[in-house]
Amino acid sequence: MSNATDNDSTNQIGLERADMSQVIAKLNSLLSSYHTFYINVRGYHWNVKGEHFFTLHPKFEELYTALQLQIDEIAERVLTLGGTPLHAYSDFSQHTGIAEDKNVKDGTTCVKGVVTGLQALIEEQRKISALAADSDDQGSADLVDAYVQEQEKLVWMYNAFLG
Ligand SMILES: [Fe+2]
Repeated sequence: MSNATDNDSTNQIGLERADMSQVIAKLNSLLSSYHTFYINVRGYHWNVKGEHFFTLHPKFEELYTALQLQIDEIAERVLTLGGTPLHAYSDFSQHTGIAEDKNVKDGTTCVKGVVTGLQALIEEQRKISALAADSDDQGSADLVDAYVQEQEKLVWMYNAFLG
C-alpha cells in the first residue's frame, strides 16, 4: 500500500513511483495522440470547402479548442504524478496513436477523420483508465473517463452528420 508521503517508493500524492512510471508513459503517448489529432482538426477547419462550410468550419474550431484545453490538463497530470510531459513534435510523432491527415478538403472526409480520431482517443483512454485504476490512481482514471464520455457523444453527433 502507498502512503501520503513523498519518499523513495511513493510520489508527492502517495502513489507508487513504479506504477506511476507506466501511467506517465501512457499519458505521454496520449498527449502525443491529442497533438496529432489537434493539428488534424485545425487542418479540417482551415481547408474544408463545399456546401457545409459554414457549419463545419466553426464546429471544427469548437473541437480543437476543447482538445487544446485537454492537452494542457493531460500534461499537467503528468507533472502531478512526478513525470515530465513531452513537448516536442519529434517526440509526439514517435508516440502518437493517430496518423497525420493532410490536405483534406471534402466535408464528409473531414468528418470521417474526426470520427476516426475520436474513436482512437476513446480506445487509448479506456486502456489508460484501467491501468490507472489498477494502480490506485483514480485521479488519472477520472480525468480520461470524463473525456471518453464527452467524446463518445461527439462520435454519435459526427456520425449523425454523416447520415
Ligand atoms: Fe479560424
